Amino acid sequence: MAKDTVTVTDNVTGKSIELPIYHGTHGPGAVDIKAFFKEFGYVTFDPGFVSTASCRSSITYIDGDKGELLYRGYPIEQLAGKSSFLEVAYLLMHGELPTEAEQQGFLGNITRHTMINESLNSFYKGFNHDAHPMAIMCGVVGSLSAFYHDSTDIRNPAHREIAAHRLIAKMPTIAAASFKHSIGEPFVYPKNNLSYSGNLLNMMFSVPCEDYVVDPVAERALDMIFILHADHEQNASTSTIRLAGSSAANPFACIASGIAALWGPAHGGANEAVLHMLDEIGDVSNVAKYIAKAKDKDDSFRLMGFGHRIYKNFDPRATLIREMCHEVLAKLGNENDPLFELALKLEAIALEDDYFKERKLYPNVDFYSGIIYKVLGIPTNMFTVMFAIARTVGWVAQWMEMIGDPDQRIARPRQLYQGAAMRDYVEMSKRR
Ligand code: ACO
Repeated sequence: MAKDTVTVTDNVTGKSIELPIYHGTHGPGAVDIKAFFKEFGYVTFDPGFVSTASCRSSITYIDGDKGELLYRGYPIEQLAGKSSFLEVAYLLMHGELPTEAEQQGFLGNITRHTMINESLNSFYKGFNHDAHPMAIMCGVVGSLSAFYHDSTDIRNPAHREIAAHRLIAKMPTIAAASFKHSIGEPFVYPKNNLSYSGNLLNMMFSVPCEDYVVDPVAERALDMIFILHADHEQNASTSTIRLAGSSAANPFACIASGIAALWGPAHGGANEAVLHMLDEIGDVSNVAKYIAKAKDKDDSFRLMGFGHRIYKNFDPRATLIREMCHEVLAKLGNENDPLFELALKLEAIALEDDYFKERKLYPNVDFYSGIIYKVLGIPTNMFTVMFAIARTVGWVAQWMEMIGDPDQRIARPRQLYQGAAMRDYVEMSKRR
């Protein structure tokens, strides 16, 4: 399969082996180290998987140096400008843009599954009103496997597809119910004549006693944010899902594990952390102080929404969402709002500062998405939930690709053990 090889020599024993190099469509080649342990008796050590490809994938490609993001080969800029979230969902899942008939069929499948089992609604009552919506979502999504037994046979392609449709369709309903529970308002049922993002806005912001009209600017902004967040290859939450799924766990349980991984502030929780940080900074006059804190090695403070493991030039999603952020601010917000003024000042100073320039720390997509959500009236603790709704599409596509991969095995990383050497048990009376 691979024509190129790399020769590795163990300088202790003098033994050499040739390892094959595989080349992808784009990006760096990958050295196949499967034989490494068998031949040398060593494991490889790569905390954080900085140099490790954990799978083959044909879904998403990122070139962090060029600031390039492709879904199934299509540049994110073209999809964000011309496509819709559900069309992108079809593309990610099936590999090709849908024909008109395929698109209609897919929309029908998604809208048919937007309601959640009525018994599931009662789960929410068990949560305190101040429960974090991510905690609720994690629990409710995990519990879907207790309701939809007819789509948990992962070896059955029809089950896999129905589970995927259910997850994509029900996430907005689950998210909106988490929000309504936290503010003590009645749940709003999905309206299938609305778009995916329009339906979410309606379920979040309408009340039974008043008419609600979905704002087209808000609807389009949300749809675009969802496109930008739909997939991002083998990030922490997607890898969590592949790891959980490798044991043949059901898809609902797998997606719940991804939601848990997404929650952390170093990943999807960053959009919420951005708003908390802006609140903490408080005023433009404090920006210099906080920039200094971010640069101080003895201070754990980091500028939230800055930096990315892969994008070391610029995040193409950030470029697109920055433009959308200004459009939303102009049409629905107040560009003179002190919070937005603060965000823009922070962005400008960090972009000029040598510390950030040298380390290639640019505002990432979460810096701007948080600001847009704020203008749309979405509360801060719902930000990561919005991310989870969008990323469910990528998680589902990656999970389906993994299950269909003939090379797929249970994921079982090795370790470098550096604990105590073997020793004998000490009776308690003799312990010091
Ligand atoms: N503020 C200040 N300094 C930073 C920041 C930041 N946000 N991010 C990185 N640095 C510094 C580090 O201190 C380090 O400095 P050093 O070389 O002098 O030691 C250098 O930049 C490299 O940072 P690493 O932590 O090694 O980079 P890594 O790739 O491991 O981390 C991460 C990437 C987690 C995104 C990091 O930049 C960060 O914590 N950012 C803030 C959180 C955030 O916005 N996360 C969202 C990521 S996007 C997403 O998940 C959708």
